[in-house]
Amino acid sequence: MRKLYRSKPHIPQQDKKFILSEWKDILDTGMFAQGKNVENFEKLVAEYCNVKHAIATSSGGTAVEVALMATGIKNKKFIVCTQTFVVSISAIIRSGNIPVIVDMDEKSQGLSANIIAKHIDSDTAGVMLVHMAGHITSDYKEIQHLCRENNLLLVEDAAHAVGASIDGNKAGSIFDVGTFSFFPTKIVTTGEGGVITTNDDEIAEQARIIRNYGCKDYRANCTHISNNFKMQELSAVLGITQIRRIDEFISKRNVLADRYYTNLKSLKSLICPNDYVLESQIHSWWHYMIVVSKTFNRTELAEALLEKGIPTATAYKPACHEQPIFKEYLIDEYPVADDILNRHLALPLHVEMTLDEVDFVCDAIKGFLTK
Ligand SMILES: Cc1ncc(COP(=O)(O)O)c(C=O)c1O
Repeated sequence: MRKLYRSKPHIPQQDKKFILSEWKDILDTGMFAQGKNVENFEKLVAEYCNVKHAIATSSGGTAVEVALMATGIKNKKFIVCTQTFVVSISAIIRSGNIPVIVDMDEKSQGLSANIIAKHIDSDTAGVMLVHMAGHITSDYKEIQHLCRENNLLLVEDAAHAVGASIDGNKAGSIFDVGTFSFFPTKIVTTGEGGVITTNDDEIAEQARIIRNYGCKDYRANCTHISNNFKMQELSAVLGITQIRRIDEFISKRNVLADRYYTNLKSLKSLICPNDYVLESQIHSWWHYMIVVSKTFNRTELAEALLEKGIPTATAYKPACHEQPIFKEYLIDEYPVADDILNRHLALPLHVEMTLDEVDFVCDAIKGFLTK
């Protein structure tokens, strides 16, 4: 039976040669930490995202945590959507702040200016916007305006969105501070790793100190209670080769997403994510998330696809508002999330996938829905 990957990093053969020779150099010299590769990687990310600063970290999760700590904000509320990975919420709590977990907007798959406006109060200091699956919300300018008027910090958790843009603005450069994840399922990978992006000199300076045990350097006084959140040299070598290929990866992902759309858009029994993407937007297509109509059972569809060797996923289920550990941070009803997150399905999508494989997945979906 044909067996598909749902997601898979793409490391071309010629890059493997380069990576292995750089890794040999690291093994020979023992320069595993704080060498030239992390610096080069940061420079490439900053150039690509068109920001002044990129600060590499050990993971996407630690990038969010360090970014929030670097703002110096404490004991304040951050508005965040329930549809995100748990670490977005945990990072707010671990930075000494309070997440305000709110419902999602169906089109943006995350926050909207209207949702944010409803939840601002005198204790609110910030908003965390997640570009879910690589989609940047079309009302980002209204959100920016609202946050400026209310003196709120805007954080982009762009874990899924490296390479995405809107109106020519790259994810990670749109708001006050951005973060990316380079976990193997993401758009580009460093194995484990993340990065913080910002144009704010003070946030960048603080982030560099916080990722380094809270010390500017080994002779300086310790100024923050922190830890080691640094990226390894081995990871940075891999990251350098990946970030050089980002536009190639994004355009392949877009070709695959267009093929899904061509195949599925006429089906009345599901909604394709392309319907919400603007002309002025480049989607990074971390996931191709369809929403199945209420007359079908999402789990039965997923099982039918798996029987044909097609793995799918439900990101994120349970949603954050369903996680008992976050109970005290729920302040709302979650009707949209309760509906949509029970009908979501992420189809296979990765750079090594072929158009023929997309057609195979679509035929299997059509077979189920027209049974
Ligand atoms: C929205 C979001 N933020 C942060 C992270 C954490 O990234 P990492 O797995 O690199 O720690 C993830 C991981 O999937 C994520 O989806």
